[in-house]
Amino acid sequence: MNSKIAAIVACKGKRPVSELTAYDYPTARLVDEAGVDMILVGDSLGMMMLGFPDTTHVTLAHMLHHVEAVARAVKNAVVIADMPIHTYDTPEQALATAKALMAVGADAVKLEGGAAMEEQIRTITQAGIPVQGHIGLLPQKVKEDGGYRMRGKTDEEAVALMRDMEAVVRAGAFSVVIECTKHSVAAEITHACPIITIGIGAGRGTCDGEVAVFHDLVGAYPWFTPSFARPKADISTEITQAVKKYIAEVERPQ
Ligand code: KIV
Repeated sequence: MNSKIAAIVACKGKRPVSELTAYDYPTARLVDEAGVDMILVGDSLGMMMLGFPDTTHVTLAHMLHHVEAVARAVKNAVVIADMPIHTYDTPEQALATAKALMAVGADAVKLEGGAAMEEQIRTITQAGIPVQGHIGLLPQKVKEDGGYRMRGKTDEEAVALMRDMEAVVRAGAFSVVIECTKHSVAAEITHACPIITIGIGAGRGTCDGEVAVFHDLVGAYPWFTPSFARPKADISTEITQAVKKYIAEVERPQ
């Protein structure tokens, strides 16, 4: 296990782990210099960067382009590259995709799915590539899985989520994202889980750490903000004001 990943693994039970998305060089450099533990080049870049309605339009070519830029910027954080939809349908394809993302500078890869992805995760980790799992709400499958609703609300779903976590752990992942899951269930999974759990929309303090989409954190995508987001800035208003000042200056030169 490389030393960056080992440092994250060692945080279990000791201190919370921070993870943020970034998709480009300047953002990744700022986020890294601010001291975040892990930077996720998420396939949320489909919406945040590329104007797609959801993550299902993101290709491996998109991801390689953005991961390479982020990796150029980051000195300290663990860079995690999301594997796009249909690039890990078989264990062989999953390994080829993971190798391609590592070749452009990722430290680890992330893929969506628990028990159903156990073989894919195992094949990647056995090749020495660190994997972050992703259970709960799976954005790549949200259409088939009944839309954007909280997972783990029934006993049956809560048990299935626990089984998903166990499969991800068995397959050798170093960490697992728990997305949009009933808070008490996320806490129970974290309690039972030997690896780092990272929550998003899964309650405060219920997991070993949290991940947020950078644009939600700084108010850079004002057209949609998830209900669980906790924005710390309003950068889109700043941008609009700066552009308006520039236009006024150009129109009325002194
Ligand atoms: O793509 C992404 O940003 C993600 C996070 C929401 C975990 O997968």
